Amino acid sequence: MSHNILITGGSGYLGGTLLARIGAAGLPPYGKLYALVRTNEQAAAVKQYGAEPLAFNIQDEATVRDTVLKHGISVVFYLVDPFFSAAQVHFINALAEIKKTTGKDVHFLHTSGAKIFSSHAGAPTDKPLLDNDPHLYDIQKSQKAPIGFMQTPTETNNIVIKEAERHGVRSYIFVPCIVYGKGEGFGNPISIQTVAIIRAAKAMKRVYRVDSDQPTWPVCHIVDNTTLYIELLRKILSGGNPDYGKNGYYLASPGSVSWDDLYAAIATALARRNIIEDDSVVVANDENFDGMAKALKPPQQASPKEWVKMSIGGKCTFTAQHGYDLGWKPQYSPSHILEDADAEVELVLQNLKD
Ligand SMILES: NC(=O)c1ccc[n+]([C@@H]2O[C@H](COP(=O)([O-])OP(=O)(O)OC[C@H]3O[C@@H](n4cnc5c(N)ncnc54)[C@H](OP(=O)(O)O)[C@@H]3O)[C@@H](O)[C@H]2O)c1
Repeated sequence: MSHNILITGGSGYLGGTLLARIGAAGLPPYGKLYALVRTNEQAAAVKQYGAEPLAFNIQDEATVRDTVLKHGISVVFYLVDPFFSAAQVHFINALAEIKKTTGKDVHFLHTSGAKIFSSHAGAPTDKPLLDNDPHLYDIQKSQKAPIGFMQTPTETNNIVIKEAERHGVRSYIFVPCIVYGKGEGFGNPISIQTVAIIRAAKAMKRVYRVDSDQPTWPVCHIVDNTTLYIELLRKILSGGNPDYGKNGYYLASPGSVSWDDLYAAIATALARRNIIEDDSVVVANDENFDGMAKALKPPQQASPKEWVKMSIGGKCTFTAQHGYDLGWKPQYSPSHILEDADAEVELVLQNLKD
């Protein structure tokens, strides 16, 4: 049965690149492609990708229900917010009604983040944590985030899986990591973590290390991140039954790098442009943490130091397996982020708004 698809976050970095690539992906036939928008400019922009714009408030349950039912949407890709779960549950409830009325399999993809599978959220980091580990749901359920702020998005993953299971909706937890490279959409062309390192360094005129050991973190080029979204969609549309629910975690990453190597590569690029005084990377003291926090603007719920550590450090041993089972083939090796650091720094500096 043909699916109508809704892509959210189309003006963003990840969602914009996904929208830009869907048309040329050679996907199996589907019904309509819809894109959630919030402005008239966005509505005009998404049409270039063959998407019909839909403007509605995702926080309002009745509106979400009406929109999903009116347009017969049976696949939702959520790329808006890894933190809170209310909107995701609205979509899951609406998809459940589509299933009830049409008998179709219905699919909800939630975009989470590698932080939720890291030391910051209390995930195990003593060995590789595989994204197809059959115990991953139980592991996530038992996580106690040392940074209290991180408990909410961890629970959001669990809520999405539980609510979807309860309603017979197939859920997928898609996990981007340190994504880099130029976004290809009409909106935001830059990512998060490389931006945070650069923002903090600009403010401090130096790159600081925020951990005393040498932790590593998974990385992924934006093209490879997008390809995994597309391979998952391809499997859904072809009726290929990709793993879902408690077995439906998908990390987009060809492997990890150490933060220290990333800091060093970014420091070299920043020093070359005289944005920082020199390219040496120094362990941060409390005063440095305060300075970086001013640049990284912690939310009320997190202490400034925690927020800095969370934004540009920490340990994550989350390891991709699942995507490869779908036939996903990343083009870029993990070390490419280091080789490409100069271009990334240039891209970010050109697009930083403050
Ligand atoms: N980039 C990464 O490296 C990375 C890594 C891990 C996780 N993630 C997560 O993946 C998601 C997408 O990331 P991104 O880098 O693409 O972020 P982004 O560039 O900031 O894009 C966010 C998108 O969500 C939309 N949005 C935000 N609030 C909304 C609302 N209430 N209703 C409708 N749309 C809303 C934005 O629309 P407007 O343009 O109208 O504001 C924008 O299209 C985020 O949740 C992010 O935390 C990203």
